[in-house]
Amino acid sequence: MKSIIVTGGAGFIGSNFVHWVLDNKPDTQVTVLDALTYAGNRENLLGCDEARMRFVHGDICDVDLVDGLFAEADACVHFAAESHNDNSIADPSPFLRTNVQGTFTLLEAARKHGTRFHHISTDEVYGDLALDDPKRFTEESPYRPSSPYSSTKAASDHLVRAWYRTYGVPVTLSNCSNNYGPRQHIEKFIPRQITNILSGLRPKLYGDGRNVRDWIHVDDHSSAVWTILENGALGETYLIGADGERSNIDVLRSILEVMGRGADDFDWVKDRPGHDRRYAIDSSKLRRDLGWSPEHTNFDEGLRQTIQWYIDNESWWRSEKEATEAKYAASAQ
Ligand code: NAD
Ligand code: DAU
Repeated sequence: MKSIIVTGGAGFIGSNFVHWVLDNKPDTQVTVLDALTYAGNRENLLGCDEARMRFVHGDICDVDLVDGLFAEADACVHFAAESHNDNSIADPSPFLRTNVQGTFTLLEAARKHGTRFHHISTDEVYGDLALDDPKRFTEESPYRPSSPYSSTKAASDHLVRAWYRTYGVPVTLSNCSNNYGPRQHIEKFIPRQITNILSGLRPKLYGDGRNVRDWIHVDDHSSAVWTILENGALGETYLIGADGERSNIDVLRSILEVMGRGADDFDWVKDRPGHDRRYAIDSSKLRRDLGWSPEHTNFDEGLRQTIQWYIDNESWWRSEKEATEAKYAASAQ
């Protein structure tokens, strides 16, 4: 992989992936294609070796731009998306455009140029599990998305598989669980609570707080994606997870403890409509077939480092805080 396009490379996971590639794969050149929506930030790519990273400010729905970039690249790793469930409930339309139309635009370019294509997706396409269900999601789990966000991601997964089967586009797919780490937008659960505490606001917990998410450090997501890009079988899907199931209230209490607050120093707020109860990933296929395993398995340590990152980088998030909380206040969350 000498030359790769990374869509959404100025967002949370995409930018961490770009840093990971530049640090670990010295022969690879990266072109980032990112529209810099509210979730994208050019600062996320500071420190990248400019001789090996080119930034293109543009939209994945722009057919001519995408065609020109695909003509020059070996592969595309497609992270760009509207990614936040709560936003999709308030206004689904950008999710349809970017997640469905945008993926279609990229697939057509991959078809024309024979470009290797890796699609980044989510465990949310499988819906949710009961808290006491012994099962976890596998590659065979049925699609059962609950939210406007996850239904558009499910649609994009189906497009990718159809372009493989019908046109032979060389694709792989991965569906990952909840990521945490530096540079995650402060609308998301963990950074929202950390930056609330740092702003003198109380953390906010939806519903009864017992919903479970399966946390993975963003660097483990990056190493898994690279493993699939290099060694994955074409047409195949791999689930990515690090056995990190935790309830929201447990995660919040860990944040409160690390930040020196009381265990009940938070507000219960209105639940998210259609709120998925539990996600859990069985990543045996990726571990068995491709030999991948996660490195950052100490969640408490990863959480402490993430909290420290938000303390050290207040200028990165401060200007977004008021508007982000105003959006939540409008829906009593
Ligand atoms: P993010 O919201 O932080 O970043 C998305 C990036 O995409 C931003 O830089 C934004 O500017 C860019 N973008 C949006 N619309 C675009 C368009 N039309 N053209 C070009 N660029 C555009 O998202 P994230 O949390 O980093 O998620 C990245 C990907 O990983 C998404 O596909 C998401 O579905 C998937 N995913 C996320 C998680 C998670 O826990 N965050 C877990 C599994 C999968
Ligand atoms: O599972 C993968 C998915 O994880 C990705 O596909 C999505 O892009 C990503 O946003 C994430 O989705 P979630 O909806 O799980 O993440 P979020 O950070 O929005 O919320 C995590 C949990 O915390 C969820 O159960 C809702 C709850 N929550 C969230 C916020 C913002 C709260 O209790 N309080 C909050 O303030």
